[in-house]
Amino acid sequence: MTTVIDGKQVAASVIDAVKAATTTLVQEAGVKPGLAVVIVGNDPASHAYVSAKGRMAKECGFASVQHTLPEETTQETLAALVETLNADPAIHGILVQLPLPKHLNSEPIIQSILPEKDVDGLNVVNAGKLATGDLDGGLVSCTPAGAMVFVKRTHGEDLSGLNAVVVGRSNLFGKPMATLLLAANATVTVAHSRTKDLASVCRNADILVAAVGRPEMVKADWVKPGATVIDVGINRVPAPEKSEGKSKLVGDVAFEECAKVAAVITPVPGGVGPMTIAMLMANTIIATYRKLGRKAPKF
Ligand code: GUN
Repeated sequence: MTTVIDGKQVAASVIDAVKAATTTLVQEAGVKPGLAVVIVGNDPASHAYVSAKGRMAKECGFASVQHTLPEETTQETLAALVETLNADPAIHGILVQLPLPKHLNSEPIIQSILPEKDVDGLNVVNAGKLATGDLDGGLVSCTPAGAMVFVKRTHGEDLSGLNAVVVGRSNLFGKPMATLLLAANATVTVAHSRTKDLASVCRNADILVAAVGRPEMVKADWVKPGATVIDVGINRVPAPEKSEGKSKLVGDVAFEECAKVAAVITPVPGGVGPMTIAMLMANTIIATYRKLGRKAPKF
């Protein structure tokens, strides 16, 4: 029988642990974790994501602050806001929602967030700590951290002897995911659009992680029988079978056919997606514990 991972359920268990850690902090130190989310412009999808993050932060017992800046905000104004948040002792985590409007340069903004408040894990200091194996000192970006929770709940903490293939090499996901798998002793291959015979590389994977951004690209004959398949893709495609003009979300994995070959698989939606927001809350509580000199919880 194939196990279909319920991302909502796993995310809820992470959120429960975050809530408990928040309660402890409020009771023992009188401190509420403070999360600041900055959004610039009017992109409806970004606003929906940011609202969901704010709601979840409040549910966790955090002090949640949203800064909504107009589309025409200058680089200087945004940089000044980040500096203010960096200096604010009530703020433990800062997230600047991406993408920023085209006239703004996101890289210097992301790099100006203090590494200890960089709950997105995008600062080079955090990327560097991960790359050098300092998993307990930095903050790991939320989507790979969430995918790794699934891997560890399936295979345990030690992946010795297992082959992992990550398809995709982005800074946001592929590279940190490969590094996390390597840190857990997996034998890791990073494949991408220039890889020769991608299907046979993937067929070697005990743990196959797909993050290519192409709807249902991974087919059943790419999957090793009994493998764990983690689908990080979110693609909106037409769904004429629902009715004229409708669309639906699919992953990078052809779910129905791959589920017949895999032992464990994540669905889209309802797999990795709910974990990203849960790991943002986890990173915020970790950042707050560290700021107070306490040993941070693990997720
Ligand atoms: N836009 C879409 N996903 C993310 C994310 O995880 N972090 C940030 N900052 N922006 C995003």
